[in-house]
Amino acid sequence: MGIGLKENDDIERKLQNESFSVIECGNIAGSQQYAVGVKMKRSILFPKVNEILHGGDYNPEQWLDRPDILEEDIRLMKKAGVNTVTLGVFSWSVYESSEGNYHFEWLDDVMDRLWENGIFTILATPSGARPAWLDQAMPQAMRVSQMGIRNRHGVRHNHCMTFPLYREKVREINTILAKRYGNHPGLILWHISNELGGVCYCDLCEKKFQDYLKRKYHDNIQELNQEWWTTFWSHRYNSFEQIEPPVPGGETSIHGLNLDWKRFTTWNMTDYMKDEIAVFKKWTPDIPVTTNFMRLYEGLDYHKMSKELDIISWDSYPDWHTDKGELIDTAAATAFDHSVMRSLKRDRPFMLMESVPSQVNWHPYNKLKRPGVHNLSCMQAVACGSDTVQYFQWRKSRGSYEQHHGAVIDHLGRCDTRIFGEVEEVGKKLKLLKEVQGSIPKASTAIIFDWENWWAINDMAGLSVEKNYPQECRRLYQILFCYGIEADIISQEEDLTPYKAVFAPMLYLLKPGTKERFSHFVEKGGYLAATYLTGYVNEHTLCYLGGFPGGGLKDVFGLYTEEIDSLYPSESNGAAFTEDSEMHGVCRIRDFCEIIKPLTARTLAYYTEDFYQGTPAITVNTFGAGKAWYLGARVEDSGLEQLVGKIMCELGITFKKLPHGVEKHIRYHDRVEYVFYLNYTTEEKEVCLGDDEKGFSLLYHKLVFGTLRLKGFGVDVIRQEKR
Ligand code: GLA
Ligand code: ZN
Repeated sequence: MGIGLKENDDIERKLQNESFSVIECGNIAGSQQYAVGVKMKRSILFPKVNEILHGGDYNPEQWLDRPDILEEDIRLMKKAGVNTVTLGVFSWSVYESSEGNYHFEWLDDVMDRLWENGIFTILATPSGARPAWLDQAMPQAMRVSQMGIRNRHGVRHNHCMTFPLYREKVREINTILAKRYGNHPGLILWHISNELGGVCYCDLCEKKFQDYLKRKYHDNIQELNQEWWTTFWSHRYNSFEQIEPPVPGGETSIHGLNLDWKRFTTWNMTDYMKDEIAVFKKWTPDIPVTTNFMRLYEGLDYHKMSKELDIISWDSYPDWHTDKGELIDTAAATAFDHSVMRSLKRDRPFMLMESVPSQVNWHPYNKLKRPGVHNLSCMQAVACGSDTVQYFQWRKSRGSYEQHHGAVIDHLGRCDTRIFGEVEEVGKKLKLLKEVQGSIPKASTAIIFDWENWWAINDMAGLSVEKNYPQECRRLYQILFCYGIEADIISQEEDLTPYKAVFAPMLYLLKPGTKERFSHFVEKGGYLAATYLTGYVNEHTLCYLGGFPGGGLKDVFGLYTEEIDSLYPSESNGAAFTEDSEMHGVCRIRDFCEIIKPLTARTLAYYTEDFYQGTPAITVNTFGAGKAWYLGARVEDSGLEQLVGKIMCELGITFKKLPHGVEKHIRYHDRVEYVFYLNYTTEEKEVCLGDDEKGFSLLYHKLVFGTLRLKGFGVDVIRQEKR
């Protein structure tokens, strides 16, 4: 039996009454992490709104002399189904026109009027850009470049994270905001600064780095010299005061220094962010806090920063229409990004904080999103676990840098435009998906993507120029994506026990405890798949002695590697699967080929060319109740598909290759599953639903069974109840 309209109403009612867990803001550390098989409560991010958020960045302060436009904005927001806007992201010079000269009446008025019209507010702190008077009065707040030159006043995202008086000034304005708006009925979330990022090389930051190192190396410079291997090129330090950050023209050859500087940058940025957050935790402990992350931003370890936030949010600006691939390729890459964000807090939905209804102004080529693609991109975010669809920006600014950046309302000022129509359509769909909020995707498969490993790989001198670590994680994700298999993206410090299969591509740097987590996981029956470059260095980037993979992993994989070859982009080799591998043919391999010496591992494929022809390229080792797979070379998609398929089959993880161009995700809540199908092609696609896959379409309000037909660029969301 499918689910009828009556049941739909029942669910609606149930939603009002049962199993809600409102995120406890002050208590993130104590909140339950998701584990497969554990009964989950719905985590409603914003009970006051109790809908999927729809809206985005709104800058009424640019239009204070145009009350007619502000009035029109509210009318159009309601028409577009907007229920939430973000205010104040860069409003400092309007809030405080000169030191202590405050003007909040306009914000009072805007927030009140929005609220009266059913529109909630996310209020940002203004620290992302400083007014001119502040830089004039406090030049040390301006960031210093690698070359030791202090910035002039201008642009944004360029303050020193350390300078105490700037921190104090930010605390001051945040306190005013917290006290003035903390009890406003329309306020639902604090948004800390904007896209935190960048590095400062001022004297204060340098000194703070030295203190950080002192604590880390127990005030013992010899310990640091040992861990950084500074005897090489005679680079020993006598005191922590001699250490400078790595800069061109200075010391960049010590990998330990480079890595610790990156770690310090994350630590100091987190420390800065905590300073901002503390104000709100003091004055408004019930209002959650977020900051907007930027995709896989290389400069900050989001796994570390996320621990300080109540909700994860991020800004997504994919290049949907490229001249290189198909739409589905962009979709797979973006789904990976959503998964990274979703996996930072797996017990609750995340937020799509910014996206654009059409084109941005900063891609090399800014193509319009083709009709229908905006809907796909919004539905994809929700499919991947977002409970919000927010845009940058509601209305285009008339002048300055972003005057040609896409927005819901163009300079044209009309609502009968294609873009407005598509946004309005999304608004309607999100209302139909209301009951999805609070449910979350879950995965029995994980891919390890680790920032410190990324930094170490990029910094290593050797092999080839391009190491492509994130690209390889994405590629693996894409294979799972085509099979409709959900994957969490986690750091190597995470508990692996919730998973059946874990993929760890290019895990060059091992952190303390990784070996124990890996061996425990495999011993207990898990399948772990690693690749070339695994376990070459420890957390200080010192090479393991006695063979790779080091750190005690040789037993788990049942092998060691003796050499690694780099191939030119024009070259390839082959890996021929053995008969008893139950995989077929010769798959092409590129870029890196390790020469493997099996100990207890069984060979699944042999190299077909070069002087290492006939030696193992891919192996598997039984270890306890599980298996450890090792890919000694960069295997092209066809081989990877076979391997992933085999691992999933052996583990009993069911999957069905999706029709080309179709994406699938499931969000769970107790016995209810919301299955999202998205078609990124212009042709109709058919998906065969099994008996246990029939359900009720939330978008089309009808029973769905047998063959699901997805129109070109079509989306469907099916609610299934598992008995
Ligand atoms: C970022 C910023 C926004 C805006 C957009 C433009 O996400 O947070 O302020 O500049 O980029 O795409
Ligand atoms: Zn600084």
